[in-house]
Amino acid sequence: MNRLTLLLCAALLAVAAVARDAARAEERFINSLLSRMTLEEKITLLHGNSTFYVGGVPRLGIPEWAMSDGPHGVRAEFDRHSWLYAGWTTDSATYLPTGTAIAATWNVDLCRSRGETLGEEARWRGKDVLLGPGVNIIRSPLCGRNFEYLSEDPYLAGQLAAAYIRGLQSRNVAACVKHFAANNQERWRLENSSQVSARALHEIYLPAFKAAVQQGGSLCVMSGYNQVNGTFCAENAPLVLDILKGEWGFEGVYMSDWGAAQSTVASAMNGLDVEMGTWAGHYDEWFFSRALLQAVRNGEVPMSVVDEKVRRVLRVMYRTRMIGKQRRYGPGSINTAAHQQEAYREAAEAIVLLQNRGGLLPLNLSGLRSVAVIGDNATREHSFGGMSSEIKTPYEVTPLQGLRDRLAGTGVDLRFAQGYTAVPRDSVVPQAVRDSLAAQAVALAQASDVAIVCCGLNHYYDAENVDRDDIQLPYGQAALIRAVCRANPRTIVVVVAGSPVDLVSPSLCAPAIVWSWLGGMEVGHALADVLLGKVNPSGKLPFTIGYTLDQYGPHALGCFPGNQHEVTYDEGIYVGYRWFEARGLPVLYPFGHGLSYTHFDYGSPTLSARRMTPGDTLLVTVPITNSGPVAGKEVVQLYVEDVACRVDRPRKELKGFAKVEVQPGQTAQAVFRLTTDDLAYYDEQQMGWVAEPGEFRLHIAASSSDVRQTATFTLDF
Ligand code: BGC
Repeated sequence: MNRLTLLLCAALLAVAAVARDAARAEERFINSLLSRMTLEEKITLLHGNSTFYVGGVPRLGIPEWAMSDGPHGVRAEFDRHSWLYAGWTTDSATYLPTGTAIAATWNVDLCRSRGETLGEEARWRGKDVLLGPGVNIIRSPLCGRNFEYLSEDPYLAGQLAAAYIRGLQSRNVAACVKHFAANNQERWRLENSSQVSARALHEIYLPAFKAAVQQGGSLCVMSGYNQVNGTFCAENAPLVLDILKGEWGFEGVYMSDWGAAQSTVASAMNGLDVEMGTWAGHYDEWFFSRALLQAVRNGEVPMSVVDEKVRRVLRVMYRTRMIGKQRRYGPGSINTAAHQQEAYREAAEAIVLLQNRGGLLPLNLSGLRSVAVIGDNATREHSFGGMSSEIKTPYEVTPLQGLRDRLAGTGVDLRFAQGYTAVPRDSVVPQAVRDSLAAQAVALAQASDVAIVCCGLNHYYDAENVDRDDIQLPYGQAALIRAVCRANPRTIVVVVAGSPVDLVSPSLCAPAIVWSWLGGMEVGHALADVLLGKVNPSGKLPFTIGYTLDQYGPHALGCFPGNQHEVTYDEGIYVGYRWFEARGLPVLYPFGHGLSYTHFDYGSPTLSARRMTPGDTLLVTVPITNSGPVAGKEVVQLYVEDVACRVDRPRKELKGFAKVEVQPGQTAQAVFRLTTDDLAYYDEQQMGWVAEPGEFRLHIAASSSDVRQTATFTLDF
């Protein structure tokens, strides 16, 4: 052993000793508190005492536990004992882009800084737990909450969520990753059972939670409302005791979604730690209140089970420094320029350039005299919608405002026509009104050099508690886009939506399509900067855009949304691009797709070895050259294919991605690390992960359908 190795070993041993001491101190502290608590005090810590708080034990210095939604901003303050807003004037917060938008950045560093920003704001608002991120898989394009979630791909969702959580918890605010598990639709969300195979659970629906817990260190996990394989998530022993707390070693708090607990004894015995609810004012009547006290007294729930739950609550409090001697991060900050900058950076990196025929984008200002901005989404603010993820934000820059700000002083004449009325679902707009709005928009487009149609969805569609009926653009937008394109061939379509929508018609008639998501408070500026070329787009789709709804697995198989009792996941592990590839289906825009104003060449990959044995790490390096005119960022994707296997496997599975920034004429390296875990599938017979020896192919790709380089290696035992 040389001197350096010795020093390294000594340092590692010292770090391990410090960690051991810290763990012992934590245990001692928690034990000492627990030993002084009465049963009633313990029960106090296990259920809400108001809409977003859990009671404390002041006599022992245990404070109340304050929680808040949600995934993309700290929600406005509620009255403690009702679902009415408290009416504060100090509770507005930074509105960050929603889940699918942040996923479209494919940027782990941004997810970390997003978490830090949320943590700062949560601390400022005195919140101890932030209820997010939401990592449920986008199984069907129709799920109302897709906009809050991240992706159809478990690896992408898991990596981004873990970074977000690390950022958030660095500010001593606990994350609460949700909704565990297989909660992939809103229809019948309070009752029906997701009937899903062990393999699909492990390969598709659980990995993002696992990454959130193991890599992100999420201190809390929220149950889904739904059942999985016949048992409610809040009392599902296989999910909670065996997998979450068993296999994954989760040491934090498993709490119910608001009103998701269904029982006292079954929930207590099967892993639920804290019950949160919606039945304000009746806290004594909740399952984990008087009824739990009674169940302990009459021996149905052992004291040791209650103690274990209390330990978990105290552990989360200790680790977020609410109790104990360590100084807590504080006092946080809110609505700062830096946070607004964060919102801008995320929005800018999220924007996806879907197509750009004839190089219409970026717009060239010289010779540009007039621009028509069309569509309700050009002026609609989305922050205060979406139910539990709504944000009261100090401002929201809409696309029209963003363009106005950026074009001010250029002499470009910017005009707006609404084009269509965005009313709540099932409301009817008289035909004469629709015709007149469309006619005004078409006339404006005809009289302008360029037309920008801001179409898509809003929170009547991207919504909690309700799924969409189809993927059509509502309000007759497809016809409007066609008419505008006929009137002005230089038409840019901007999609404002958090879930997949039908873009077949726009893709045929509009030369340029840009997706700007539900992009947060700065989205208008980010969008204008992309359209005008100040920002080179670098977002890529976190889901597949097919041609028709019935191409997607659950719809092709007729098993979405099931009925109020159950929904069967007949497509198994074939979700998103895995399904489209297995069935050989054409897609309009593939998973991982996104264009740039520059061009990237993918060089030959270098592998650190051609053979791998269990325990090895394979290093894959790919040179990416910017051969175009401007600086840009490219999301390089690495998909694994098991060339020959005993069981059916997807043709490609995402197991790595790297976002590299490259100057024109320069080359940067995209680096990936693969371990044997990345090669494994879940074997239902062995009830475990199996990596079979043999050949594996790596697809280095610009999207799931655009493979630029391949390489092979062998796994040996
Ligand atoms: C939602 C959760 C949310 C909770 C508290 C529930 O209806 O499903 O995501 O965190 O309410 O608002």
